[in-house]
Amino acid sequence: MKQYQLYTTMGAGFESVVAKELQSLGYETKTENGRVFFKGNQADIVKTNLWLRTADRVKILLKEFKATDFDTLYNQVYDVDWAELLPIDAKFPVQGRSVRSKLHSEPGIQSIVKKAIVNKMSDQYHRRGFLPESGNEYPLDIHIYKDTARISLDTTGASLFKRGYRIEHGGAPLKENFAASLIKLTPYDGTHPLIDPMTGSGTLAIEAALIARNIAPGTWRKFAFDGFDWFDTSLHETALAEAKTLVRPLEQPIWASDIDQSILEIAKLNAHNAGVLQDINFKQIAVKDFATDLENGIIIANPPYGKRLKDKESAEALYKQMGEVFHKYDSFSQYYLVGDPDFEKCFGARATKKRKLFNGNLRVDFYQYWANKK
Ligand SMILES: C[S@@+](CC[C@H](N)C(=O)[O-])C[C@H]1O[C@@H](n2cnc3c(N)ncnc32)[C@H](O)[C@@H]1O
Repeated sequence: MKQYQLYTTMGAGFESVVAKELQSLGYETKTENGRVFFKGNQADIVKTNLWLRTADRVKILLKEFKATDFDTLYNQVYDVDWAELLPIDAKFPVQGRSVRSKLHSEPGIQSIVKKAIVNKMSDQYHRRGFLPESGNEYPLDIHIYKDTARISLDTTGASLFKRGYRIEHGGAPLKENFAASLIKLTPYDGTHPLIDPMTGSGTLAIEAALIARNIAPGTWRKFAFDGFDWFDTSLHETALAEAKTLVRPLEQPIWASDIDQSILEIAKLNAHNAGVLQDINFKQIAVKDFATDLENGIIIANPPYGKRLKDKESAEALYKQMGEVFHKYDSFSQYYLVGDPDFEKCFGARATKKRKLFNGNLRVDFYQYWANKK
């Protein structure tokens, strides 16, 4: 089977998390800013799209070249055998991005690349000037960094965070791959209890349950490669069937609570869609009333912060309450994603470790408190 140069994209700061996940799936990796490279065939494209919990997309690197002027860009793109990749009716949107390069106009780069492909396909298919673009989508992107251009085909389509289990609603839940990445920054593997005491729509608890039960995060969705006419889509069916045999039962409890009953109803629906409703103990309870007999597990939460609370004072009062309640559960490692730089002061303890992250555009910290194991 043909080998491809593949790479994954991910949210800022999660390169090492994605690289580790790829390595655990059996790949050798090379990391760059915002990308992790690996090699593989069509079966690997299926496997990584189906199993990666923390990445955004899996792409095929088609060609890499130096380009400091539009003629070179045009010629290098024209030289690719596009008819081998794109059928005559292919829809092929081109996304352009340029960083620290002579060619810096992104719309200009995009339209030159599009023109080169249209002209080459017209020549190859003997179709002067008109390509219907009425068929399946082959998303392309051109990325120029310090005058080195890379043209890639996206095999994923809608980002991998769109697992397909979540119902849409007005809140601001964590993205699924962001939540999975946070869990991957903890030692959680399902062999210890996990508690999310401010669970909202349940993303952290659901992603934890998927990890614990070894359920493939891409189980419910289609990928761009399903529409590629040269792609052996029976590989997808085989991988899905194999994934079903790898599901295991939950070993240790997962608890998810929130003060707000209506958001818990959404969390339950999401958990139901993900097939893990029976694995999560949902409970309406305020932090101040929280109690558990469980030990040696993980507490992980994304408490309200920043703009989401009208009043910074009430958020900080909640952090103080969290400190009063959760300090006594010191056999648990505790992880809090918060955008307030005064969190440690309010919580009443310095974190063992902090990690700077971005939740969308919001600069946040992942405060990590390691357990005193009993
Ligand atoms: C930022 S949201 C969590 C979002 C969640 N991680 C998700 O992906 O949907 C914070 C949650 O904390 C809950 N909350 C606020 N105050 C609380 C309290 N005193 N006790 C328990 N939960 C509280 C809110 O109802 C909200 O659902």
